[in-house]
Amino acid sequence: MRRGLFITLEGIDGTGKSTQLRLLVQHLKKRGFAVRVTREPGGTKVGERIRKILLDSTTTRLAPLAELALMYAARAQHLQEVIRPALAKGEIVVSDRYNDASLAYQGYGRKLGAETVRAFDRIVCAGTQPDLTLVLDLPPRLSLGRARARQSQQNSKQERFERQGMDFHRRVRRGYLEIASQEPHRVKLVRADGPVAEVQAEIRRLVDAFLARRLERR
Ligand code: TYD
Repeated sequence: MRRGLFITLEGIDGTGKSTQLRLLVQHLKKRGFAVRVTREPGGTKVGERIRKILLDSTTTRLAPLAELALMYAARAQHLQEVIRPALAKGEIVVSDRYNDASLAYQGYGRKLGAETVRAFDRIVCAGTQPDLTLVLDLPPRLSLGRARARQSQQNSKQERFERQGMDFHRRVRRGYLEIASQEPHRVKLVRADGPVAEVQAEIRRLVDAFLARRLERR
């Protein structure tokens, strides 16, 4: 069976990832592709329940390894219910975060180390790795300000991860930068400090180039 394509969007909190994802999906649908949009942690009923535990600021004293295991528990469900079936149907799966987030946030941010995260990954994700990953990059100084402004606008509470300090987010960003330098073919860095339309134009350029390469090979 011909496999679909798996695209993930990543970045530290407050880089404008959700807006960019929505615009990218519009673009792909306009080009006529069958697109399956999803997110992590979450994407399934069970996964959304796990997400609540992970993001709720009333969850305190969660051990870093428990946090990592919950991320991978949600991911296992997501793979079985959503990602693998959609790929088997030949769809383009676009996910707001996936396994690179665990490497960056739990591996680097929580300092669990890349090897611990990869051990979970070998079991849970196995061969289902993203074909293309876009990392929206912004210094935490700017991104955290954005995330906090959005919260006060929407009157929403700060989530567990957004409450982490600047040092935590600096480590997460460094994680993403290292992943990008280790896998330059799959992982593309996108500067997220420009206007929404400019960032989107760069994302579309990268995605269209990727699709052209992939469709040519088939
Ligand atoms: P997200 O939905 O992107 O939050 P927002 O839209 O508010 O930016 O992600 C939720 C949080 O979960 C985010 O702070 C990153 C964190 N996260 C991890 O720490 N590890 C993971 O594996 C994933 C998927 C997310």
